[in-house]
Amino acid sequence: MTTTPVPTLTLNNDVEMPALGYGVFQTPPDETVAAVEAALSTGYRHIDTAAAYGNEAGVGEALRRSGLARDDVFLETKVWISDYGYDATLHAFDKSAGKLGVETIDLLILHQALPSRFDLTIDAYKALETLLADGKVRAIGVSNFMPAHLDRLLAETSVVPAVNQVEVHPYFRQPDVLATDAEHGILTQAWSPIGGITFYRDGEHTSTLKDPTIVGIGEAHGRSAAQVMLRWHLQQGRSAIPKSVTPHRIAENFDILDLELTDDELAAIDALDTGVRGGPEPEDITLETFGREIPEA
Ligand SMILES: NC(=O)c1ccc[n+]([C@@H]2O[C@H](COP(=O)([O-])OP(=O)(O)OC[C@H]3O[C@@H](n4cnc5c(N)ncnc54)[C@H](OP(=O)(O)O)[C@@H]3O)[C@@H](O)[C@H]2O)c1
Repeated sequence: MTTTPVPTLTLNNDVEMPALGYGVFQTPPDETVAAVEAALSTGYRHIDTAAAYGNEAGVGEALRRSGLARDDVFLETKVWISDYGYDATLHAFDKSAGKLGVETIDLLILHQALPSRFDLTIDAYKALETLLADGKVRAIGVSNFMPAHLDRLLAETSVVPAVNQVEVHPYFRQPDVLATDAEHGILTQAWSPIGGITFYRDGEHTSTLKDPTIVGIGEAHGRSAAQVMLRWHLQQGRSAIPKSVTPHRIAENFDILDLELTDDELAAIDALDTGVRGGPEPEDITLETFGREIPEA
């Protein structure tokens, strides 16, 4: 296991965030405490959850059981679209903070743009701005925002998002989103960083984990494909938040800090982009198709 400290990234409001985090999408609520405890004892100090994952309470419980100080762990969560609107989003903070059992959330982001109700998206973001001004959150941001969504948001609000969390892995790199984020000083955070969303897809590339280029680079360094992909994100300046409920994989994904890929290796991974999205098309997200009630704390 590496002893190298996790590098931090400085957000556009000077808040420091560990570059490598730990995600809990699809981690069942009854497995979340054990999984997050394993991550914290491995050394992760950044946890990514969401109101829509239904497991914020487990994240908070694991944090308390860890014995770590609140300030030692960077907590990130997301407001679901059903809670968009100024007052509803202020209340979404109360729901998430209550379930997490914390006074302050380090990074609170909008989970999706609602293209057909962008007025609600703007009102939700304005609530995040208020929460930031009131010191209830340390940074605010967005997720799954495409360049056109960012343009609309930036035109109608004051605080540039600190983070845009989007699908990025070797088979779907979204260079246009990466460029737009960089242009505005928004940090790109990669979800499905090792391609988890593609694992069940049919076709030639069934899994990034078995990709001959990625596996070959791993063999050259004595590392796994997952480790190579995570290192690729970090070396290109992105945050990455791999998910695993498997203790040895939780440890494997963390043990990447002393790995160094060459420029040629990074470029070879870039070249694997298929342009095929694994997750839902951000433009198609509507309250009718994706809305669901987020319970009170
Ligand atoms: N904002 C959004 O809309 C959005 C969408 C999706 C995800 N996310 C965030 O991003 C995080 C990560 O994304 P993700 O969970 O979709 O994908 P991922 O982290 O790329 O992959 C997770 C999958 O890979 C497996 N895995 C993990 N480490 C492995 C390793 N070293 N070797 C082999 N298999 C490994 C996991 O299995 P086991 O758990 O069984 O070990 C799981 O099936 C989520 O947890 C969530 O926090 C955000």
